[in-house]
Amino acid sequence: MGDLTGKVAIVTGAGRGLGREEAMQLARQGARVVINDINRPDAEEAAQATVEEIKAFGGEAIAVFGDCADSNDAEALMKTALDTFGDINIMVNNAGFCRDKTIFGMSDDEFDSVVRVHLRGHFVNMRNVTAYWRNKAKGGEEVYGRLISTSSEAAIYGSAGQPNYASAKAGIIAMAMGAAQLLSKYGITSNVIMPRALTDMTAGGQTAQMFAPPEDGGFHMFDPANVAPLVGYLASPEAGHISGEVMVVWGNEVAVLERPRVRDAIANPKGAQKWEVDDLHTALASHYDDNYVSVWGGYSVPPS
Ligand SMILES: NC(=O)c1ccc[n+]([C@@H]2O[C@H](COP(=O)([O-])OP(=O)(O)OC[C@H]3O[C@@H](n4cnc5c(N)ncnc54)[C@H](O)[C@@H]3O)[C@@H](O)[C@H]2O)c1
Repeated sequence: MGDLTGKVAIVTGAGRGLGREEAMQLARQGARVVINDINRPDAEEAAQATVEEIKAFGGEAIAVFGDCADSNDAEALMKTALDTFGDINIMVNNAGFCRDKTIFGMSDDEFDSVVRVHLRGHFVNMRNVTAYWRNKAKGGEEVYGRLISTSSEAAIYGSAGQPNYASAKAGIIAMAMGAAQLLSKYGITSNVIMPRALTDMTAGGQTAQMFAPPEDGGFHMFDPANVAPLVGYLASPEAGHISGEVMVVWGNEVAVLERPRVRDAIANPKGAQKWEVDDLHTALASHYDDNYVSVWGGYSVPPS
């Protein structure tokens, strides 16, 4: 189950945190893994350490340093994967960082840099690898393609202190869903994970205390290693029919999200004509009574 022997995976931002665990998971399942992280001494050292750890248990991996959102670096990443391992089958877009501020205090650069690393970071790699797969398929070759994108619950519930991050993560869902539709004819899947884990990204934030390991040494719900098996599964042959899905993953739980549904569709009672504001008030008032709370919280599990 989950055998990835002979498959080649790229994981961006795999020097640390979730990416590191995901890369090791794929390698344990037999994939040869290309470990990307940013070309900065500490990140390069971390990426190289991930490679060494994979080699230590008999896996195959190489590190490629570069910015996941830079076109030239992304091209070099793919070229190294192809030159070294001869193919690419699994693309895990994971890299990113946060620059948290409320909407009224956020600078242009804080917005642009976060949207760039996450949304453009997903875009350039997804474009390059899907172009490669499409060309292969058009040439009559068999293609094994798995896209795994990394969003966040911030994308759907909002995040008051992260308008840049939440917007980028929402864009990633849209991009991944479109890819799922477009590429199903080639048997390529595209899915999105929304992880929760204690990593450098969350260690300093509001979540740090909530995500801390239990003092009694019991199961650590927010260990990033808990997220990795889902990536391994979505990358596997057994998940070849699962595409266009969004899953929240942490601890011992995977929550498969429903597609957005229309809650109430209300037609103008006056018939086929444009709404008047008064009529909209009459029609909508009963849906928004005084007790209505319109600020969304986290996901809720429907009663069984
Ligand atoms: N930790 C969580 O609870 C959580 C929740 C939701 C989503 N996520 C998402 O999961 C992904 C991984 O986050 P993490 O928590 O492991 O964070 P992390 O900070 O531990 O790891 C991120 C990695 O990305 C690398 N990186 C940053 N910019 C890069 C760039 N331009 N090019 C290449 N690599 C770059 C970093 O060097 C680092 O190794 C991110 O996309 C994050 O938004 C995390």
